[in-house]
Amino acid sequence: MAKKKTVFECIECGHQDPKWLGRCPSCGKWNTMEQVSLSNSGSSGNSLSDFLSTGLSSKSSVMLHDVNSSELPRFSSGFIEIDRVLGGGIMRGSAVLLGGEPGIGKSTLMMQIAGAVKSEDNTGKVLYISGEESANQLKMRADRLGIKSPNIELLIESDLRKILDVLDSSRPELVILDSIQTVVSEEAGKVPGTVNQVKYCGHSLITWCKNNNSAIFFIAHVTKEGIIAGPKIVEHMVDTVLYFDHSNSGIRFVRAAKNRFGSVDELGLFTMESTGLREVKDPSTLFLIQRDGGIPPGIATVPVYEGTRALMVEIQALTIPAKSGFSRIYSDRIDNNRVSRIAAVLEKNLNLRFADQDIYVNVAGGIKLNEVGIELALACALYSARTGIPFPTETAVAGEISLAGEIRPTAHMERRVKTSAEMGYKRFIGPNPVETGTSKSLQGIYRGVSNISESIQSIFGKG
Ligand code: TYD
Ligand code: MG
Repeated sequence: MAKKKTVFECIECGHQDPKWLGRCPSCGKWNTMEQVSLSNSGSSGNSLSDFLSTGLSSKSSVMLHDVNSSELPRFSSGFIEIDRVLGGGIMRGSAVLLGGEPGIGKSTLMMQIAGAVKSEDNTGKVLYISGEESANQLKMRADRLGIKSPNIELLIESDLRKILDVLDSSRPELVILDSIQTVVSEEAGKVPGTVNQVKYCGHSLITWCKNNNSAIFFIAHVTKEGIIAGPKIVEHMVDTVLYFDHSNSGIRFVRAAKNRFGSVDELGLFTMESTGLREVKDPSTLFLIQRDGGIPPGIATVPVYEGTRALMVEIQALTIPAKSGFSRIYSDRIDNNRVSRIAAVLEKNLNLRFADQDIYVNVAGGIKLNEVGIELALACALYSARTGIPFPTETAVAGEISLAGEIRPTAHMERRVKTSAEMGYKRFIGPNPVETGTSKSLQGIYRGVSNISESIQSIFGKG
């Protein structure tokens, strides 16, 4: 029999080395190298091909046009917000990773989903596996959440072998594992949460679910640096990666970072109440600050397009003379490079000096913006902050800005104008010409502009 080959693997980042090292050369952490046998480490063997061919009746190739393209069946999570983020409900046989900081509400959300799943054709049986909390704690949470479903089975276990045995006997439609970092298998070393453990256990559970047409949610803790603690590896194995995050105004977001069965643009919005997470059904004004008087300088409003919905968002800017010899940009909601580029366009076209200023940019409600349509509003906020001229009330803007200072057409313009009009905005400044689809009444509030000077002139009354 061939001798089992072993290597040393870092339990933090997965780096492998033929010899033991005190410090991992890849992530720099000390005392993280552990001996593993190659057959257990996912980087060898045929586990990947097994995994990918799961569901095919034979391992031979098929003609693309012979493959049945009918939609795979889905069922509802019981939450419109979650169904939308997943791309239309929970796909049978799919694996989803739900990551988030401790305390964000992952266990709460999963327990609520366990109590609310709706599947037409059968029981909707859910197996909630916890390696973190006792049955008593889970029951107390479920009571607080008002969960009455008779179909939730609890399993307090972290041994993979025993979990697989229970899966075989109970055959749930939905499996929830809280969390992936707690499950261990003897075959993958002794320490839970290591790369090897997560890879091995994650893979075994995904394979079981794919073979049995059950969906599985893995809960994973995210460290402060935003990386799923220990192994990020499971992100590659699952079909969908969801991140649960919060804004400083208390809104909690679920966003897909990867989705094999839908888009990654959708945002599910929740608030945490005393009886659990509540969906935010009308988010259009959530990211606006209500004021009695006029708008102070440095603020501009833009309808942003998140998946299938437009939301009104307020961008805030502040400029002050640079504290050090060079200027700095402090912006954690909009990419620094974008802020820097828009400031440069304003500097070039409007003779407005930003090079000696520190620039602070924020977004009300703490939502992160990474679409190009916000650039005109960002320019307005920066212009207003630098000049002290306030952005006019009841006005909204949207558009992309080129390096030459042109206002470029932006996707979903009609929808943005419509949402703004519904929210009571009387003027809308955007790219020229307006989309042909825009209806007459909406065109009444729309003013098309072609470059940054014309935009500033039209919005603020001077250039
Ligand atoms: P939890 O779901 O345990 O977070 P995670 O699993 O991500 O670590 O709970 C998050 C927080 O929410 C916890 O501090 C208590 C609070 N909470 C409520 O405010 N209302 C509720 O109904 C529940 C169940 C929890
Ligand atoms: Mg938890």
